[in-house]
Amino acid sequence: MVGFDKVKKIGTFTEQLPSEGCEDVFSRFNKSEYVMFPGFCDVHVHFREPGFSYKETIATGAAGAAASGYTAVCTMPNLNPVPDCLEHLRPQLELISGAPVSVYPYGSITVGEKGREISDLEGLAPYVAAFSDDGVGVADKGLMREAMQRCRALGKLIAGHCEDLRYEDPREREWREIERNLRLADETGCAFHVCHISTKESVGLIREAKRSGLDVSCETAPHYLLLNTALIEDDGRFKMNPPIHRAEDQGALLEALSDGTIDMIATDHAPHAAEEKARGFEKSLNGIVGLETAFPVLYTGLVMEGIVSLERLVEAMSTAPSRRFSIPLSGDFAVWDLTHDYTIDPAGFRSKGRSTPFDGWPVLGKCLLTVRDGKAIYISEDK
Ligand code: DOR
Repeated sequence: MVGFDKVKKIGTFTEQLPSEGCEDVFSRFNKSEYVMFPGFCDVHVHFREPGFSYKETIATGAAGAAASGYTAVCTMPNLNPVPDCLEHLRPQLELISGAPVSVYPYGSITVGEKGREISDLEGLAPYVAAFSDDGVGVADKGLMREAMQRCRALGKLIAGHCEDLRYEDPREREWREIERNLRLADETGCAFHVCHISTKESVGLIREAKRSGLDVSCETAPHYLLLNTALIEDDGRFKMNPPIHRAEDQGALLEALSDGTIDMIATDHAPHAAEEKARGFEKSLNGIVGLETAFPVLYTGLVMEGIVSLERLVEAMSTAPSRRFSIPLSGDFAVWDLTHDYTIDPAGFRSKGRSTPFDGWPVLGKCLLTVRDGKAIYISEDK
């Protein structure tokens, strides 16, 4: 069998070559100027189905993921219905079975993500990647404690969107709830993952918790690593929650990514309709798309600038999330041309969402081929 003998491999993964009708693919992509990465795994995406298919569908979101080197994603539960019991999860389970990438849904922590009653965690556990009320924090401490106790018994992670609305300052909103949740994780022994961290204080709290032996992990997103308040324009493309903070916060996040305090990078891919993002910074809905820009902007902005190593970036986008969320990636890989330079143009996205702060950024890095479980799920027309 012809193999990828010339392509340079980066990162740890079990390679399984494409097996179906891919002879042509081998000859096109078996070149020494290309690199092979393990499949990327994004533990924080919004594919909006069921409930909001005018913003995104599982098919359009998954197509964008496959074209960007991803082979697995975890879908957030702010849907309609909210997957708070198996009956409410079923519509999503039916839709994801045909997706080109592996799609692992989250179950919600509370019924309807309303923070009043705990979901049927036991009924959902066999079908979900983890539990989260993404989009909102869980204000009731007693409820969060009980959810953690039950998740600990189930061997499931809780992925916390940490935001305590009792505080005015968005930075404080985040770290105060992280601080409380870390205490609860310590008390209950629940494995805890912190979603999209964006502040210096959050980094400090998680670094300290890891030092003390807590079973905690966290993610940040490309926009928190590459942007700060000086770069924000009065445009919906810069509107997301948590918001972009000061250069000091960005610096702390970059340091934490390099030293491993930040385990992984997730995109928080959150598509909305064009009209919902066209109301200026103040009035646009929170959320930007991320899957189709993540690697190129991070490679160009961090690796090419000598800020983060390529190996660490690939680990943060693939091996680290796969390990923490027990998502298998063997047989999943992608071939990239890291010399291909172009300008980010949302018009070419497969996702229905087009709003990104990276619109117009010059980048390096084009995904040529994505293989999931030995089968090609994306082949670029370009080369
Ligand atoms: O920017 C965001 N978008 N933050 C959230 O917390 C929710 C998400 C969404 O669902 O659009």
